[in-house]
Amino acid sequence: MAERNVSSIKVVSRKSLIFFFTMTSVLFLMSWFYVLRSTGSTDFIDHNLLPNSKILSTFDGSNSESQSQNQNGEESSLGNRAILVDSVDVGEAGEAKMNRENEKPEANDDRKCRRNDKVVLKVFMYDLPLEFHFGLMNWKGSGSSVWPDIRTEIPRYPGGLNLQHSIEFWLTLDLLASEIPQAPKHGSAIRVLNSSEADIIFVPFFSSLSYNRYSKTNPHEKKSRNKILQEKLVKHLTAQEEWKRSGGKDHLILAHHPNSMLDARMKLWPATFILSDFGRYPPNIANVEKDVIAPYKHVIGSYVNDASTFDSRPTLLYFQGAIYRKDGGLARQELFYLLKDEKDVHFSFGSVQKGGIQKATEGMRSSKFCLNIAGDTPSSNRLFDAIASHCVPVIISDAIELPYEDVLDYSEFCVFVRTSDAIKENFLINFIRSIGKAEWTRMWNKLKEVEHLFKFQFPSKEGDAVQMIWQAVARKVPAIRLKLNRFTRFSRSPPSADNGLKSIPVPKNFW
Ligand SMILES: *[C@@H]1O[C@H](CO)[C@@H](O)[C@H](O)[C@H]1NC(C)=O
Repeated sequence: MAERNVSSIKVVSRKSLIFFFTMTSVLFLMSWFYVLRSTGSTDFIDHNLLPNSKILSTFDGSNSESQSQNQNGEESSLGNRAILVDSVDVGEAGEAKMNRENEKPEANDDRKCRRNDKVVLKVFMYDLPLEFHFGLMNWKGSGSSVWPDIRTEIPRYPGGLNLQHSIEFWLTLDLLASEIPQAPKHGSAIRVLNSSEADIIFVPFFSSLSYNRYSKTNPHEKKSRNKILQEKLVKHLTAQEEWKRSGGKDHLILAHHPNSMLDARMKLWPATFILSDFGRYPPNIANVEKDVIAPYKHVIGSYVNDASTFDSRPTLLYFQGAIYRKDGGLARQELFYLLKDEKDVHFSFGSVQKGGIQKATEGMRSSKFCLNIAGDTPSSNRLFDAIASHCVPVIISDAIELPYEDVLDYSEFCVFVRTSDAIKENFLINFIRSIGKAEWTRMWNKLKEVEHLFKFQFPSKEGDAVQMIWQAVARKVPAIRLKLNRFTRFSRSPPSADNGLKSIPVPKNFW
């Protein structure tokens, strides 16, 4: 019964939201009509609005024309178009892929054809000096190349908690692997050596590692190595032809640790960032339209051959973490007092560091639900640890951003509770207790289905975190193209009297 109530509250609030939006739109339209009518210009509506819809239909027409051009192998438009098609592919993720195999062959042949000759994201990677990437891992280089020959040698990324933010390592390795002729060709991204042919310009600075390892200032130094590297990077990047011609708009910069790139991001903001959340970013520097959210690498191992059931997991709700967090973590204390005496609830404080990983692994694998409460940032690797443990995440973090949420419906395998509700007496515990065996098992099954989407590995495999991130980047490319083309509108015009295009500053409100 209680289960019904809670889900109906959710439905009601969603319904009322939709209702509110519809009403506002209707009111807006009505008022517009009224204004036009009162000025006696209904003709305007009939005659001037119609051509608009004609424009729309012509646009549709030209669209399908350009699609057929693609099939004839027209290079220029192929990139963008293919990415759009690809994003349809991605949108349906693993599950739908199986459906597609059962699809009747006559169903939409045109789409299918373009799906098969999959076109991937073309990435140009700067050959940044060693100190920006593998050098941070104490790799000394081999010969004249700044990149390891990954057929014979893969430098080791430092372990422990460093690994949470190691996306920089996995993405770079995947690009290097894309160049090996005999490597399997399933990847979503390939490295291209001509930046003019690239969809995106990748900046291989291992910023999270730089923060984790080198952000302390030694006594005899003025600045930390992390700070110096960021300054060098800004100077280096903004001097590149690639940066100048786009103002950085087609650049991809990794800043997964919330404190990484703290200085440089204020200067490199036109680029697309890959982040864990937007918690410490002003919205004009990073936002969900421009940037990509990537998962943390889980520190708890995948639960292989999980034969557990609702009944075999004795703990109802599990939380392990620090109680006191600087910002936004107040809910943790409130929840602790609300939950500490509840039966079947494990709520304890202490970080997962040092030896705690084993305990947390056992804890999560023997719990039905795992709590994710906002800490000093809206996201944490705990969510991905819970997914890897097939422990249904209960997310209490209003500002959380989730990886690939444009193609993935987290409500199928996570439970979301608003912070304001969670801290009401008995609300959370009653809600969790109301979720029955059938519903939990459905979510548990879904967790097992999606867990590979959050797996970082080398070599990367189809549909893992590395591929999902590249595909999320690919879905940004059309918007980047739009910004870029607008940016270069005047590139063929004669230079203006005072100075040329290149010295026009990037407008501040360009987004
Ligand atoms: C790079 O690609 C552009 C566009 O396809 C082409 O015009 C140019 O010649 C290429 N440069 C090199 C060095 O191959």
